[in-house]
Amino acid sequence: MAENVFKLSDLKDKAPKLVGIPTGTKLDEMFYKLEYQEKSKRFVKQTLGGIPYTAVLNITGSPDTGKSVFVEQFAVVQASQGYGVLFVTTESPAEFLYPALKQKALALKQDFSRVEENIVIIDASQNDKLRENMQELLDTMANVIKYKKVKNVVIDSVTGLYEHKEVMARKTVRQIYNFLKKFRQTALLVSQKRSANNGGAEAAGGLAVPHILDGTIVFEKKVIESRWDENLYKMPIGSVLRLVRIEGCRLAPHASDTYVFEITDTGLIDIKKPLKDFIK
Ligand SMILES: Nc1ncnc2c1ncn2[C@@H]1O[C@H](COP(=O)(O)OP(=O)(O)O)[C@@H](O)[C@H]1O
Ligand SMILES: [Mg+2]
Repeated sequence: MAENVFKLSDLKDKAPKLVGIPTGTKLDEMFYKLEYQEKSKRFVKQTLGGIPYTAVLNITGSPDTGKSVFVEQFAVVQASQGYGVLFVTTESPAEFLYPALKQKALALKQDFSRVEENIVIIDASQNDKLRENMQELLDTMANVIKYKKVKNVVIDSVTGLYEHKEVMARKTVRQIYNFLKKFRQTALLVSQKRSANNGGAEAAGGLAVPHILDGTIVFEKKVIESRWDENLYKMPIGSVLRLVRIEGCRLAPHASDTYVFEITDTGLIDIKKPLKDFIK
């Protein structure tokens, strides 16, 4: 027995506090917490002001839906507030990340010198060994987390770690998840979707990713291509409607609506309103 067996009361002080870690987008208001009020003996709903602390979330969607823009914005917002961020890139080489992160910092009117100091990048895009050897990647990440006081981790993308061996998806994701939990990180893991046809959380590698992680945020885009779409969305044919929703989170209650958002010219996520209000 012992090590993995707990009496419920033993866990009293072990649960992480439910606090919000800001992403700099309206998603921060879409997570809630329920405060129990002794007086009225009722739960009162309050916005969390961020994604739940220590959540490891799956950020999924087809190509070009805004996943990278979102996780980069999260990295910049956290770094600008003085928190260390580890950004693991398996796709875009590190030197391409620099201008993207700088532009976001400037657009958010944040001090870029501070952001620069607080973000550490592990570039696995150019290094097969880091991508192919999980232990080597985790050891490198552990060093950065310990010595740079990292609180937040972004991996863009985890799909890049099991690209040509999808049977490994579950094991890979489980290892990373356990690692991030051990280091009490708040983390966004981007996973790619194979096709635009499947609207749910399922990522390349099957359901491994959404089942293991604490929650999923789905990014989508819809091209207006018929008279019907044109009338429904009041947008011209050929234009693009971008959508985002939280599809489950086991750490905090959340809005379940689909929201309309835009990517601004300066590369920021701007969430507008629920789709149901947008089409009214
Ligand atoms: N700095 C930027 N300024 C304007 N648009 C941008 C900027 N960065 C990305 N975009 C646009 O955002 C869209 C989504 O990009 P991205 O987040 O990279 O998609 P993915 O979901 O594949 O990661 C793309 O159409 C891209 O052109
Ligand atoms: Mg991307």
